[in-house]
Amino acid sequence: MMTPEYDLDAWRRRIPLLGSCIPMNNCSQAPQTDATRAAAERYLDSWNRSGMDWDAWMAEVALAKNAFAQLIGAAPSDVAVFGSVSAAASAVASALDLDGDRQRIVVSGMEFPGVAHVWLAQARRGAQLCRVPLRDGGIEPNDYDALINESTALVSACHGWYVNGFVQDVARIAARARAAGALSFVDAYQTLGAVPVNVRDLGVDFLATGTLKFLMGVSGIAFLYVRPEIIESLRPTATGWFGRVDPFAFDAQTLDWSPNASRFDAGTPAVVNAYIARAGMAIIHDVNPASIRAWHEVLARRMIDGGRARGLVLHGTDDVSQKTATTAFVVPDSHAIEVAMRARGVLPSARGQVIRLAPHFYTTLDDVDCALDTLADVIRAR
Ligand SMILES: Cc1ncc(COP(=O)(O)O)c(C=O)c1O
Repeated sequence: MMTPEYDLDAWRRRIPLLGSCIPMNNCSQAPQTDATRAAAERYLDSWNRSGMDWDAWMAEVALAKNAFAQLIGAAPSDVAVFGSVSAAASAVASALDLDGDRQRIVVSGMEFPGVAHVWLAQARRGAQLCRVPLRDGGIEPNDYDALINESTALVSACHGWYVNGFVQDVARIAARARAAGALSFVDAYQTLGAVPVNVRDLGVDFLATGTLKFLMGVSGIAFLYVRPEIIESLRPTATGWFGRVDPFAFDAQTLDWSPNASRFDAGTPAVVNAYIARAGMAIIHDVNPASIRAWHEVLARRMIDGGRARGLVLHGTDDVSQKTATTAFVVPDSHAIEVAMRARGVLPSARGQVIRLAPHFYTTLDDVDCALDTLADVIRAR
């Protein structure tokens, strides 16, 4: 397969940044498209025209929840909206009962720090943290088995590792958690938009993501799926008026709980971000997640083989079926290398000891080759 199943050139024409550089930092921030820009302008126009158009704005937030629900195979009523994935994890943590028999939180060694910090912070509430170790830039699914037991409240397993794109078998982990009576939390920030996700197939209890990476959106908005069968048993104390049965009752004396996942909502949602997020998710839906994944495998293969041919040191697995297209190479000074590559028109993403190259559905094989040439040249020139 040398071309994707969709019209690559047509999509590329909708991303102005491609006229001046090669974005390979989708694991960090997606480029702007004509659609996401138009969505932001629609909000600005509405604000300017009406002063406030509350009903339309709330409808837009609901549509963004719908778009997320559709991408993950859930119902819109299973979705809550947040400002960040960290805030979503905090709300989940606040719903855990940690002073009973279940005090253990099992945390994968590949959580994004913001999520890991939320679980660490629960130690003050009595939580006992267990960390699943990293092995050769990945995780052995069996390593969960000994750690998940009848005292486990929650298992947190990031779907795709932000460092090198390694994808965990979250279906297996969620099943193991469920069998022990524990809940499962999955951060899908690095996978949604890059890997087809169906929460019912995965069997997870919670799945959170933001939109600025492979969903082609912006910061300041994140979504949380809550498995409908458990919603009524959860009472998040990180809450607010949007978590009520009827927020517009303005009843400050009663703490009731919305019957659906909106019981996890808190304050006024980020309306402008909802406009942009929905437009970004619509792109992923239109291109088609399965076709994106197929192209990502081609790009990942090219990157791994091309990196090897240029003497670059791969971080993590070379099995494309176990990773996203994000590919990390170990480098001497990642930040200096990022700066040097940017000066040459390639946008990589530095993290610690690696440079991450994270293409997306609009990336060509020529882009990959050019990014690899640039990385190899920059390392050589040091
Ligand atoms: C896997 C993953 N989780 C979470 C985050 C950040 O989440 P938040 O919305 O809390 O900033 C990132 C990246 O910034 C990420 O890569």
